[in-house]
Amino acid sequence: MTTTTNRIFNFSAGPCTLPLEALERAQAQFADYEGQGMSLIEMSHRSKTVDGVHNEAIALVKELLDLPDNYAVLFLGGGATLQFSMVPMNLIRNGGSADFTHSGAWAKKAIGDAKLIGNTHVVWSGEESGFTTLPDPASVQTTDGAKYLHLTSNETIGGIQWQDFPDVDVPLVSDMSSDILSRPLPIEKFGIIYAGAQKNIGPAGMGLVIVRDDILEQCPDDLPLYYNYKKHAGANAMLNTPPVFQIWMVKLVLDWLKEKGGVQWSQQMAAKRSGLLYDAMAASGGYYRCPVDEAVRSPMNVVFRLPSEELEAKFIAEALDNGMSGLKGHRSVGGCRASIYNAMPLEGAEALASFMADFAARNG
Ligand SMILES: Cc1ncc(COP(=O)(O)O)c(C=O)c1O
Repeated sequence: MTTTTNRIFNFSAGPCTLPLEALERAQAQFADYEGQGMSLIEMSHRSKTVDGVHNEAIALVKELLDLPDNYAVLFLGGGATLQFSMVPMNLIRNGGSADFTHSGAWAKKAIGDAKLIGNTHVVWSGEESGFTTLPDPASVQTTDGAKYLHLTSNETIGGIQWQDFPDVDVPLVSDMSSDILSRPLPIEKFGIIYAGAQKNIGPAGMGLVIVRDDILEQCPDDLPLYYNYKKHAGANAMLNTPPVFQIWMVKLVLDWLKEKGGVQWSQQMAAKRSGLLYDAMAASGGYYRCPVDEAVRSPMNVVFRLPSEELEAKFIAEALDNGMSGLKGHRSVGGCRASIYNAMPLEGAEALASFMADFAARNG
């Protein structure tokens, strides 16, 4: 097997850096999977081999997140975006309502799609603060008739993360696209967890969906087939041809995460990587400014500003010359953003922190 040595540090928000070990394991088996004379992605999805990989990927999600038996794991096409409509289609299309916390750009999209399908209430909004903070979870209240409370556990663009989750008498539904598998979860609070794969799990174009039994029981029979969680779960997510390549990569990425030490390891690493960057900002005497309330700063997406847009452009260009890509903030907010998901080596954060200090010294 060849080991790629010329990889740069990729700070993109997703698609993003994936574990080199997983990429190389796929590469080694890509054209001839386990001596079968064909690629895994050329095999029937009903073959024993593909079925085996699929079941292993499901088992790894269950093991790593410590899921009890009453949760189903589905790998569905359509990314996280499909879930913005699929959740309300299953839960509020035929009555009831959904409560939302509005924490930024991704929560807004989830709310927008749910509104097209049923009744929604925004029970907390961060709009006034420019989406730089989150409420005390204990203060979040639901409204009468709500079937669930939706929250975006980590706002990828705004760089904020729920550190704890509300205790309410309805199931939580969470978009965890940008922090799934980066920490242990109080899983029993959640009725549905969904995540686009392209950050901590694998290639883009697929959603990981975790659904509790009692939610499956509420799925209406009159939904179009692909929208119905219960039908997917009943068919072990083989309702149609599943995204086989993505599922294979998920298995390889999760094998890697398990070997590293699972979500306890990823949580510690996330704290170290993000600590280096937030410390670099604090040490810069105001040169780098993080707009986000300190209590909810994301360990996955570190957003920051420099004294001017010209300096930001120079910083991003020079970082690229130094082997660090993807540091431009989202086009809707500008500035800089370092996305440091599970697969970002600690050396990447160290290199960026030291570049930040050096750049500030030269351009102060
Ligand atoms: C928090 C969050 N939710 C949803 C999405 C959309 O995911 P997808 O492109 O897989 O539909 C993203 C994409 O970056 C995201 O960061």
